[in-house]
Amino acid sequence: MDDDTRWWRHGTVYQVYPRSFQDSDGDGVGDLPGLAARLDHLVRLGVDAVWVSPVYPSPMADFGYDVSDHTDIDPVFGTLADMDGLIAAAHGRGLRVILDYVPNHTSDRHPWFRASRSSRADPRRDWYVWRDPGPDGGPPNNWLSEFGGSAWTRDEASGQYYYHAYLKEQPDLNWRNPGVRDAMLDVLRFWLERGVDGFRVDAIHHLFEDEGLRDNPPNPDWRPGTSPARRLLRTRTMDQPEVHDAIAAMRRVADAYGPGRLLIGEAYLPIDRLMAYYGADLSGFHLPFNFHLISTPWNAAAVAALVRAYEAALPPGGWPNWVLGNHDRSRVASRLGPAQARVAAMLLLTLRGTPTIYQGDEIGMADVPIPPERVQDPWERNVPGIGLGRDPVRVPIPWDAGPKAGFTTGEPWLPLPPGHREDNVEAQGADPRSMLSLHRALLALRRAEPVLAAGGYDRVEALGGVLAFERRHARARALVVLNMTGMPQAVAAPPGGGRIWLSTGLDRGGEMVGETVRLRADEGLVIGLPPA
Ligand code: GLC
Repeated sequence: MDDDTRWWRHGTVYQVYPRSFQDSDGDGVGDLPGLAARLDHLVRLGVDAVWVSPVYPSPMADFGYDVSDHTDIDPVFGTLADMDGLIAAAHGRGLRVILDYVPNHTSDRHPWFRASRSSRADPRRDWYVWRDPGPDGGPPNNWLSEFGGSAWTRDEASGQYYYHAYLKEQPDLNWRNPGVRDAMLDVLRFWLERGVDGFRVDAIHHLFEDEGLRDNPPNPDWRPGTSPARRLLRTRTMDQPEVHDAIAAMRRVADAYGPGRLLIGEAYLPIDRLMAYYGADLSGFHLPFNFHLISTPWNAAAVAALVRAYEAALPPGGWPNWVLGNHDRSRVASRLGPAQARVAAMLLLTLRGTPTIYQGDEIGMADVPIPPERVQDPWERNVPGIGLGRDPVRVPIPWDAGPKAGFTTGEPWLPLPPGHREDNVEAQGADPRSMLSLHRALLALRRAEPVLAAGGYDRVEALGGVLAFERRHARARALVVLNMTGMPQAVAAPPGGGRIWLSTGLDRGGEMVGETVRLRADEGLVIGLPPA
């Protein structure tokens, strides 16, 4: 591993959802040896770090986001030795390893919660959020679980309720208790000692709730057919001020292992609130995930406005980052369609800031409809039929034309994507115009041209249906023009014209551009401009 401590600024993160990446033992669920065997895909793709969704022992009520032991590996994924092997294999290929860290809650089977639940007098009682019933004998207040129903579950033995932002199998830890904080910081140390390069910190915006347990107010914009948890505004259960001390404590632990260790925070928040997660004087996350491309309307004016607003809001020295999808959100190829998904890939990989790619997006995977009898996601089970389930974005990667797409020799835990015999990693690797080839070309260009990885913006604007931005680094300049419509477009080129480095069609490299840039429908171009 090189000692470039700022690797995450010019690098690209790739998210692996291990259950669906590669199975090595035929049980239909991906695992660590499988992932290790596929690392060359990531090297060939050109990413710099792999973020691995949780692989710790878990009853799998929320597929690993319900951790019952933070310092071991679930047998379905392998062993600690397999994790050590993965870290070594990744480092040997110049790839960093980022683990998922789930501080907000544990599994209800975690020994801490078993102890906590055992009696009101147990020393671990206060490690979770216990409260007496409300005046009517029901839950202490109106807070709702993200996954449906009350956020409080009554424990018959003690008559008290415990709080869970997610499933009742995922009781929230009480971070106001110093013992919790110390124990959870030790978890970071455990993995840092084993050589991991950082963490993606799960659900950080939920870490604290209002100590006075005030009700959340109703959400006037809630509509039937959307998540029932959104009936209330989460003013008392999310983004509470104490969270920043806890993040700073995590950051101090990471920094103690050297400046190259990366902390990424998962917080779905408006831009102004998100910026606080960089911390005072950048003492918080290196990268608070920026999910705004997922929710912003897909048109040039809206995306230009987003980029400008986000850039303007960054704290001094704060490094930007961008995300198109993850294991919780509808796939970009389904949200935008396959043609615009190529434009989106060019956007993600040419914006200023660290990109994160979700596994499968590099081959343009779409959401896969899941028949009711194969539903796995507890959210879909709790709140069925309104499209909240996340199984469609979690199906296995189709690697090749083999019987189970090269993913497993057994029965995959979720269905394989339709068409996997024709459309898979191997087939796309052999097709010079495929989505995979586009990702490889974009990542190679980003590596070769510091103006893309490190440059600032000269301008970001919408020209009709075209999003245009100019990047500059020292004297180097590049222009990115993205046709976000299905109609051909023409825009004026900067004086002096330029030369096309890459088209989303992968067929115009080297073409000179004069006074006018002509874009085909759904085409994006990266154009090298004469030095300033
Ligand atoms: C995060 C994860 C999601 C999980 C939830 C609870 O949002 O990304 O998959 O269900 O936290 O841990």
